[in-house]
Amino acid sequence: MGINESGQVQTLYWGEHLSAKDHFAAAESMPGASSFDLPVTTTPQEFVGWGGGLFVEPDLKITFPDGNRDLVLKYASHTIDANRLSIVMKDISREVYVTLQYEADAETGILRRSAVIENRTDAPFTIEQIAAGTWNLPRGTDYRLRYLTGHWAGEWSLQEEPVNPGKVVLESRRGTTGAQNNPWFAIDRSGSADQDEGGVWFGALGWSGSWQISVEQDVLQQVRITGGSNAFDFGYLLKKGERFQTPYFYGGYSGHGIGGASRLLHRFEVDSLLPHHPDPKLRPVLYNSWEATGFDVNEAGQMALAEKAARIGVERFVMDDGWFGQRKNDHAGLGDWYVNPQKFPHGLKPLIDKVHSLNMDFGLWVEPEMVNPDSDLYRKHPDWVLEFPGRPHTEARHQLVLNLARPDVRAYVYGFLDKLLKENDISFLKWDYNRNWSEPGWPAVPQEQEKNVYIDFIRNYYSILDELRREHPKVEIESCSGGGSRVDLGVMQYTDEVWPSDNTDAYDRLLIQNGFTYAYTPAAMMAWVTDSPNWVNNRALSLEYRFLSSMQGSLGIGVNLNQWKPEDFATARLMVERYKSIRETVQRGALYRLLTPEHGSEQSVTETVSRDGDQAVVFAFLHSSQENYPFPRIFLRGLDEGATYSISAFAGKLAEGTPKQASGSYWEQHGIDVDLHGDFQAMAFTLKRSR
Ligand code: GLA
Repeated sequence: MGINESGQVQTLYWGEHLSAKDHFAAAESMPGASSFDLPVTTTPQEFVGWGGGLFVEPDLKITFPDGNRDLVLKYASHTIDANRLSIVMKDISREVYVTLQYEADAETGILRRSAVIENRTDAPFTIEQIAAGTWNLPRGTDYRLRYLTGHWAGEWSLQEEPVNPGKVVLESRRGTTGAQNNPWFAIDRSGSADQDEGGVWFGALGWSGSWQISVEQDVLQQVRITGGSNAFDFGYLLKKGERFQTPYFYGGYSGHGIGGASRLLHRFEVDSLLPHHPDPKLRPVLYNSWEATGFDVNEAGQMALAEKAARIGVERFVMDDGWFGQRKNDHAGLGDWYVNPQKFPHGLKPLIDKVHSLNMDFGLWVEPEMVNPDSDLYRKHPDWVLEFPGRPHTEARHQLVLNLARPDVRAYVYGFLDKLLKENDISFLKWDYNRNWSEPGWPAVPQEQEKNVYIDFIRNYYSILDELRREHPKVEIESCSGGGSRVDLGVMQYTDEVWPSDNTDAYDRLLIQNGFTYAYTPAAMMAWVTDSPNWVNNRALSLEYRFLSSMQGSLGIGVNLNQWKPEDFATARLMVERYKSIRETVQRGALYRLLTPEHGSEQSVTETVSRDGDQAVVFAFLHSSQENYPFPRIFLRGLDEGATYSISAFAGKLAEGTPKQASGSYWEQHGIDVDLHGDFQAMAFTLKRSR
């Protein structure tokens, strides 16, 4: 970037590493395209205020108390401190300061950026639109955009489309991240179908509230990507002397295709973002009671499940919904976080002690930001919900959203969680969030401050997670929102894992998990083995198939163990044991999508190579055979070509005649045949490097 003659911070280049000796031409604003498109619109800028005739997406738009809405920011100063760059900009006449903050991650080249707005005027003003900044691509007309869409039980669909003149907006207006779009994008220019070739520019927002990312091709065929809070219904009153920091917008570049882009993101998330980075704990194998018992939880029933879970090598036992208040179904109880005395007459302690005696730790489900109108909490504090007075309260799953922006609600939520964790030996919370906002009013504050709810709610959510973690350092947290509706780089700073989807059908999961990993690491991706036929679609799959599908992420088990036969326990015990021998590779390694399940593919294959390069794990799935073709040959990637690796199948069969040992080049170039025929078949094998 450089400062041009108009004092704008102009992007000069973003892409592959260049030589340190290369010189850039000095920044010079683009000519206007005509009297209709002035230089302010055509010049690629890092951060631009709405004013002076700007027509592309602004990064910042302000209304001042005198009605003036013009904002023209110019470079004032900058500092560089190790891997951090700060650039201060100031409006041409008003005391509005914006500091652009950049932090570079040495290992992955991923940049983290945000902007801090400071009101040094002598009156409050309203921020009406605010982004962390804008990424500008090299000029080009052949770009392709990839992004993720979804819905409940069908999250993480990869979309691909050309970047055309005009604008595409990815967004959530829901108050939360949402599954309909996820705040991630990737853009390439080759249109290549190969996973590992070509340049890819990618980015993701770290924000769990309403957000937007716009991808815009302007009249000079330049592409810019602007991301931050959603501008719809937005307004943030920034008082005199206050500062406002935007969410982080992360961006990076890979010269190794979309696969390379996701490997960089995975690495960044594990080494620099998740709690306990650079060495977050490997995910324990967990059991969750939800699909087995629903709301019908009680001491004896959960103990019986725990005993069975321990027999197959489970390390964490999680009791899901139904343990608190008057919670018999989803009509009542949210908000009343006392242990239900009918279901647990002696509190949670006997169950927790039992779980510990079986060498597992204990986890619990909560949904802290919600309230059922049928609850003591709502009867006592009907004014604690998001609402417009005199208007209906729209319920979803019979529940309303507590206004977490309110200090008293924040204190209540933190208070009950802190007490729960102090009084019980709990190692894990599954933090759920099962609806989106409606009527997002905040009548308790002055009208001009009401829309601050879009920001203050999320800040309080993060601060509760942060404070809980500090007070209870051993507690791990999962972000769940009826599946994958709250997964983003914001919440992942505070949660150890996420629940990608309520859809637990092991075949549907292949596509769901495939989409998930474009942006997020398998280390945080919970995947349960559940009952067959599956409740989602009545599909029947073998237990081994279900295990192999879930073993591509962080393995969990959610079956009704009371219905298992002895041979199911035997299979499960074996699969859990195998998983433990590959989990470090799966959760930390480099993922290669050798055959994706996209576009109705008949097969899918993933390979993960461990960090030290000693192990590779391959999962192969045959969805349905047609016309007796053999399974495509599998060509591995990411191996050490000169090294020798020995191969062994740990589920299913390799083709007859497969050598037991061969070089990295052999496995990559000659490839491997596997013996898979029929419908919904799966196999898995490992390669081990000889020392
Ligand atoms: C959501 C979650 C499920 C389960 C239920 C409990 O739907 O995604 O996993 O916890 O809530 O009510």
